[in-house]
Amino acid sequence: MDTVVLPERESLKEDKIDPTLDLPGEIERLRRERKAVILAHYYQDGEIQDLADFVGDSLDLSRKAAATDAEVIVFCGVRFMGEVAKIVSPDKTVLIPDAEAGCSLEESCRPDAFRRFREEHPDHLAVTYINCSAEVKALSDVIVTSSNAESILAQLPNDRPVLFAPDRHLGSYLAKKSGRPMTLWPGSCIIHEQFSERELIKQKAHHPRALVAAHPECPEGILKHADLVGSTRAILDFVLTNEANEFIIATEPHIIHQMEKAAPHKTFIAAVGMDGSCDCARCPFMAKNTLEKIYLCLVNNAPRIELPEELRLAALKPLQRMLDMSVNVNVSPTAS
Ligand code: 13P
Repeated sequence: MDTVVLPERESLKEDKIDPTLDLPGEIERLRRERKAVILAHYYQDGEIQDLADFVGDSLDLSRKAAATDAEVIVFCGVRFMGEVAKIVSPDKTVLIPDAEAGCSLEESCRPDAFRRFREEHPDHLAVTYINCSAEVKALSDVIVTSSNAESILAQLPNDRPVLFAPDRHLGSYLAKKSGRPMTLWPGSCIIHEQFSERELIKQKAHHPRALVAAHPECPEGILKHADLVGSTRAILDFVLTNEANEFIIATEPHIIHQMEKAAPHKTFIAAVGMDGSCDCARCPFMAKNTLEKIYLCLVNNAPRIELPEELRLAALKPLQRMLDMSVNVNVSPTAS
């Protein structure tokens, strides 16, 4: 289902922006005028992180979207994150800079196929990663992020078997950690999937003192070398609080922007992909957002997330369950 309302035909277009415009200044003016809050994920370009009101991981951003008193939320991340903001804050206008900012995990899990998956396992609880569409959320029992999944799984009744979708790497990591077998949806993130164990071993040999921090969307071959496996926020907290001075970071490398700002004396090395560079670890969907598009979405009031109320309420149920079940999962000390 298309949940994004596109700009009107006569809206201001990117190639019509005055090139002499002070974009950060104009965004600031519009933010005040429209009583907007700009939320950004750690995978956004550094210049977007720097002008955001709040930078965080999926859980912290969901909480922020639910709690804000702004009238407009500009969500700089990918589309499903904008949908989450609208689901938890239906009275706010939710804008996303680029309607094409999707997610390979979401793509891998179409609602019809997911519905069949559920029907084939009628006695199972469906625990679904937040990286999915509103429709898949609506078909789920509880939503999780990589920062609260372990804690939420531990709170679920032991006698119910579990389906986990759509990330098979996160699912098998959780199954191993919790000792709870789970039936996994066969999806993966194109970014985390491409890290190379052989290249990581090489990087470790070149930087023998470096600790490895990896996101649980990475394959097992990467996770087994990690000193920390965690969400983007957990990775950030780890490198800032650990005494080590050198870290290899196995997730989307734009998070290194926050690390270098907070700990300029430490060295952060982006894990490389199969091509031996970190370029293929850059998320092409997150990269669609730019300052120009942030400015345009505030001027045009679109792209804008709109959800049918029935779908929103159905998706809210498992999302609200997630928020309620993760009150003990700390709010980031690094988020402003
Ligand atoms: P977290 O921000 O919750 O770690 O997840 C990021 C993400 O979507 C990885 O693809």
